[in-house]
Amino acid sequence: MRSHGRNFSRFLFLKFFDSADPKDIQAAVHEIYFGEVSNIKIINNCRDQLQESKKYNLAERFSTLSSQKSIVLNMHLSFNGLRKIERTNWNSNQDRFLRKGMKSGDSIRKLTDLPIRKWEANYQRTIDAMVSIASNTEENLELFIEHARGKLAKIGKVLFVEKGKVLRWGKDAIEPFGFKDNISNPIFFKKEVTPDKVTYTPIDKNFDIALDERGGSFLVFRKLEQDTVAFQQKVKAISKRLKISMAYAEAQILGRFKDGTPLALYNEPSPPGLKQEEINDIIDFDQNIDTGYRDDPEGLKCPLHAHIRKTNPREDRSKIWASTYAQNNSSLPTPRHMPNAFGRIVRRGTSYEVEGESVGLLFMCYQASISHQFALIQQHWCNSTILKKLVPANDDLKAIEEKRTVGLDPIAGQYYTANANFLNKWQARWDWKKNKMRPALVDFKDMVTFRGGEFFYTPCIADLQTLNPADPV
Ligand code: HEM
Repeated sequence: MRSHGRNFSRFLFLKFFDSADPKDIQAAVHEIYFGEVSNIKIINNCRDQLQESKKYNLAERFSTLSSQKSIVLNMHLSFNGLRKIERTNWNSNQDRFLRKGMKSGDSIRKLTDLPIRKWEANYQRTIDAMVSIASNTEENLELFIEHARGKLAKIGKVLFVEKGKVLRWGKDAIEPFGFKDNISNPIFFKKEVTPDKVTYTPIDKNFDIALDERGGSFLVFRKLEQDTVAFQQKVKAISKRLKISMAYAEAQILGRFKDGTPLALYNEPSPPGLKQEEINDIIDFDQNIDTGYRDDPEGLKCPLHAHIRKTNPREDRSKIWASTYAQNNSSLPTPRHMPNAFGRIVRRGTSYEVEGESVGLLFMCYQASISHQFALIQQHWCNSTILKKLVPANDDLKAIEEKRTVGLDPIAGQYYTANANFLNKWQARWDWKKNKMRPALVDFKDMVTFRGGEFFYTPCIADLQTLNPADPV
């Protein structure tokens, strides 16, 4: 429900042997998830995670981190993995993207991903499961990996391990281009809901957390390499061409300055003369879904192509379409109780760095429907050079096009043909209405490259308990 805040993480990609007995695989998965590891507290449910996070933050404040020995653990299964443990029935409405997998022609075509032969060799292999672990020391993680290898020995193996590492600027987590990250995410707790904030609609007023009744989440994992040198060069070129500061050019790429200040509200980072709480309020621009860009329909403050505007267009997302859709399609496997969830995702990614070789993001997001959340954002918003809104159509979401060319999402946009028109419009001055007809056109692509990934199902605890008949559910 909340980011765990640990600095180190590992992602263990698993294969289960075809020859292994499904019952043995079930037992091993159960053991990895619920088993004990010498003197390390395993946090594998959201209640413990919330309590531990509070303790963890206190410990961080009082520098007692090293005394903590805990690991946050999650288990994720690809559809292939669900088949091998004979649990494809876990979710009666399995997501189409999950069922087909990220390597399917359908997914590659829809998301405009590179052909499989261009993915990193590791990701070209069939992945059955992924175990994600995070801790405040790398030593804890290595202990856990040894433990998992032991449990797997007879029925499978660890294919490869990705290492996540939180980059920081002071106390803030940043991503490799240098922007403050982990700001905007949907909220789950009633006490965080205020009139201008939108949460997943709770289906039971007695629950604090807004839950989907289906008992699990779908996880998208994508390794995205970032070219930080080319990024700097491009930013410099735009700032020179328009005679604007590098900071303003960067903000037009992301929609926020590097410190998180949203460009839709301010034309400079950390507006001077404000108290820290006021700055925090400004940066917390994530949920005001009805008002975010109301004063800026033409993108004269925050360009229509900016990453946070493409990936969460707020009122442009057209809530009306989403709720009409929810009413008319109540039998469909969609987040139908949660019209606000259309086109929203819970991001839980982390940076990675292979020294001297590459840096980037291990992008991860959770949702109740990959089609209506991640894929909608990637396919219809990031990859589209035309402004699009949601339109319901059968069991999929189509998008209506507003015939306005806005260009690719400069951060997350992917494309097929090298010679299509990818030009983005860059403003010489913030909200300079007189100049709106003469913005500079410069493309901004290839800064981020998809290296491979997979779709997973993250079962609830009760599901995982069924893997061991002796475990009381
Ligand atoms: C290497 C690739 C990427 C980088 C460097 C990146 C970076 C960022 C940064 C710095 C923010 C603003 C901070 C925040 O709100 O947490 C952000 C927001 C966001 N990103 Fe990305 N991102 C990447 C890929 C993606 C992809 C592939 C998607 C989905 C298809 C995505 C979806 C979002 C969403 C939904 C937000 C929040 C927007 C909002 O509500 O304001 N990002 N990203």
